[in-house]
Amino acid sequence: MRLKIVAGNWKMNLSFEEAEELVSSIADQLEEIDLEETEVVICPPYPYLEMVLDIAEESVFSVGAQNISQFDNGAYTGEVSARMLASMDVDYCIIGHSERRKYFGETDEIIAQKIDQALKHEFIVIFCCGELLSERRAGKHFDVVRQQIEKALFSLSEKEFYNIIIAYEPVWAIGTGENATPEQAQEMHAYIRGLIASRYGNDVANETSILYGGSCNSKNAPEIFAQPDVDGGLIGGASLNADEFIKIIKVIL
Ligand code: 13P
Repeated sequence: MRLKIVAGNWKMNLSFEEAEELVSSIADQLEEIDLEETEVVICPPYPYLEMVLDIAEESVFSVGAQNISQFDNGAYTGEVSARMLASMDVDYCIIGHSERRKYFGETDEIIAQKIDQALKHEFIVIFCCGELLSERRAGKHFDVVRQQIEKALFSLSEKEFYNIIIAYEPVWAIGTGENATPEQAQEMHAYIRGLIASRYGNDVANETSILYGGSCNSKNAPEIFAQPDVDGGLIGGASLNADEFIKIIKVIL
């Protein structure tokens, strides 16, 4: 059975104190919950990783980075390598987020290099894909997502692909308060699972967790997570509030 996952992407938010308060409260509340087969991942900004990792050591959640460099190591001012993050015991890494594509010029080629780096250092990759509003309106959303997935992932071996989690995040739903409907999410998730099946076979497709992201909160999560091909969520804004994040986790249990 594939894992159910709720991951919080804090993006570039919170002071150190606020971050410490948030993750402490999440850890306290997780003590009361039996996660069973569900994985909870918190992805803080880099400077807070060590603090969050310390708290994770005494808790049941895992820790992820929001980004990694496409380069191995060396003179790349401001960058953080997969090797550095692996040496801190960070297990997950978000790659291909639409904000990185939009604001930092990440192309499919750069994203594929980042994935190679991450897999070389044994990360579990949360790979983000999703279409713009204009692309959905033009009826191109399936093609856009297919191309993103093919270019970034389909040169991986079957063994490597087992370390990939997909997050479908329609760009028009991110931070807008306008989530995809449960039907839109299910339709795209089923399509993605079909793509994986046609490249890697049914066993791999059935083992791959596919998360929904985009204005997901405790109110809309019950219907979205109830869809057969939705295996959890990648949560932005709603992961910055401990009570709300815990409520979302409880939906998937
Ligand atoms: P929001 O939940 O704030 O829409 O962000 C989703 C997201 O981009 C998670 O990576």
